[in-house]
Amino acid sequence: MKKKLVIFSGAGISAESGIPTFRDQNGIWETHRIEEVATPQAWASNPKLVLKFYNERRRKILKVNPNKAHLEIKKLEEFFEVVVITQNIDDLHERAGSKNVLHLHGEIFKMRSEKNSNLVYPTKNDIKVGQLAEDGEQLRPHIVWFFEEVPMMEKAIEIVKQCDYFVVIGSSLVVYPAASLISYVPQNALKFIIDPQIPNHGDKDIFVIQKPATEGIIELATKLKKLMTKLSLLK
Ligand code: APR
Repeated sequence: MKKKLVIFSGAGISAESGIPTFRDQNGIWETHRIEEVATPQAWASNPKLVLKFYNERRRKILKVNPNKAHLEIKKLEEFFEVVVITQNIDDLHERAGSKNVLHLHGEIFKMRSEKNSNLVYPTKNDIKVGQLAEDGEQLRPHIVWFFEEVPMMEKAIEIVKQCDYFVVIGSSLVVYPAASLISYVPQNALKFIIDPQIPNHGDKDIFVIQKPATEGIIELATKLKKLMTKLSLLK
């Protein structure tokens, strides 16, 4: 039976693919105001601006590729039962081949009726004002905005509660409830964090790998495989 490995990823894992993070220098929130583009109030007052923001990000994501970190995570599926719980709305984990990806904050290549969240459609194109779902309502990005419920949170918590290894890659751990996931990791599980600027995590037992994702993932994989070898020798 393979050990359960949860990868909890944030914008930092896509940084080396060329997608800007949110809170780093030149991050997205330095050039856009959250309250203008990523809240239900923004959508109600200026849907055109909100759609423009996500249309630009969708076009950008179409032009980039998964990086070594995404690809190495896929390779770990050979040794572990891997679940990726990502805050990212890009599809780079899927394009790298990861089989189990859970998007806590939605997906840029999906859209939905603004009135019925069950009416979800794939899209690689811009969403426009006046473009309607089958219920006749305006289509919106299938993204979790600030102040909105995080529908996948319960499922994510259940997955984290069962894990043997929990790895944070590229998240500033400042957005809740996503950042609270680390508190559901079982006592006997091993925790790692990969980030060039390690964020406050408040966890004395976490193993720190202060490197960019594409380098840190190699160090992590080496450590995990050594651990697995030791464990198998103990049997
Ligand atoms: N490799 C690994 N980590 C990196 C790299 C890199 N090459 N470059 C930057 N980072 C780290 C930063 O040090 C930071 O800790 O990635 C993290 C990015 O933090 P944020 O920009 O806050 O992104 P994230 O944590 O994903 O934000 C959470 O906030 O804006 C909302 O919904 C949005 O999902 C997002 C949520």
